[in-house]
Amino acid sequence: MSGSSTPIRLLLVEDVPQVAQYVRGLLNAQTQVKLVDVVSDGSRAAAQARQLRPDVIIVDWLLQGRTKGEKVVAQLRESGLGIPVVVLTVPQSPVSRDPAAGIDAVLGMPFSGFELVNIVVSMRQAALAANDSIRSTMVVVYAPKGGVGKTTVAFNLAVALGQAGTRTALVDGSLQFGDLRSLLRVPADAPSILDLPTDRIGESDLQDVLWRDPSGIDILLAPPRVEMAEMVSVRDIEKALSLLRRLYGAVVVDMPSALGDIPLALLDAADVILEIVTYDSTTIRNTLAVADAFRSIGYPASKVRYVVNRADSTGGIAAEDLARALGRVPEHTIVSDGKLVMQANNEGLPFVLANPDAPISRDIARIATDLVGAAHVATGRR
Ligand SMILES: Nc1ncnc2c1ncn2[C@@H]1O[C@H](COP(=O)(O)OP(=O)(O)OP(=O)(O)O)[C@@H](O)[C@H]1O
Ligand SMILES: [Mg+2]
Repeated sequence: MSGSSTPIRLLLVEDVPQVAQYVRGLLNAQTQVKLVDVVSDGSRAAAQARQLRPDVIIVDWLLQGRTKGEKVVAQLRESGLGIPVVVLTVPQSPVSRDPAAGIDAVLGMPFSGFELVNIVVSMRQAALAANDSIRSTMVVVYAPKGGVGKTTVAFNLAVALGQAGTRTALVDGSLQFGDLRSLLRVPADAPSILDLPTDRIGESDLQDVLWRDPSGIDILLAPPRVEMAEMVSVRDIEKALSLLRRLYGAVVVDMPSALGDIPLALLDAADVILEIVTYDSTTIRNTLAVADAFRSIGYPASKVRYVVNRADSTGGIAAEDLARALGRVPEHTIVSDGKLVMQANNEGLPFVLANPDAPISRDIARIATDLVGAAHVATGRR
């Protein structure tokens, strides 16, 4: 681990104020572990973990109230968040380590600051070693051709992921002509990726520059002016992404069509490239050229998932011809709905919220479900 610049985020589930205070005191003396919250009501633990995405959770086994420690541990395990849990207990109530039951480690009272920090650090390291992107899925929405729906899909997909219970960030990767600023009517002085410090980006720096959209997602905006795009380096992007991935269950990126250093860094970092195709011959030609490029970069074919946008307007090309050209049946389709899309985009609203039952919204929701499901399957790989 890279030391103290990104402290390990700890959530404590503890209803005894003196114990919480004791832990707080121990942690105040160091910088490796940061206490993000103390939850005193066990029934709120899983929801709070989902919201805050801590790296490690400590649960008091002797929690009073309706939701006891054992139940909290079970709920956290069932949440599928994959966050390591340390159970806190006393010698009179011995508990055994049992990872299958969600007890990744046991800390006996009384404990020292050294023991506390040690156990949290070792939990985090084990989790990192097991899977370096344990709970985050990064999806870039890409197309080699402009105007095929990247921004529309990226925004609505991010909101749909949020609706499905995944804490989601949206990144405007189109640094020159960031479409999200105008789509969401963001004020001109709203901060962008350029407002991140160039060195040692911390979590609070990131929180300060994110645009909080009323739709429930947080957005890292592109610079407000075209010429400012050049001031963003690949390194800035990589740092911002690694931090976003620690804090969000899903990171969705709206990509530019042209490839360059930064778009390539985004594509490299992605778990999934959601590539938009439409039924027209130039798109298909460009898509094949890109497939070649991706192959030579070394991306496995499974990294790309094709989405046919406006799938009901075939433009004279048969679905079989498209599948033959791509070498496989596209994984997803999104129907056309000019009226709803235009109306929602004009108001800066996601259509998945404006009209969740519309076929186009259901198509997006299905993609979101697939992505989250895939992330669960992916846990434990590498
Ligand atoms: N499924 C759809 N049904 C109807 N209209 C759509 C659909 N998808 C996208 N559009 C419309 O197509 C246009 C282009 O969409 P969008 O701006 O999202 O594309 P883009 O790929 O991000 O474009 P650019 O390359 O300029 O960034 C918009 O007017 C949008 O409203
Ligand atoms: Mg766009």
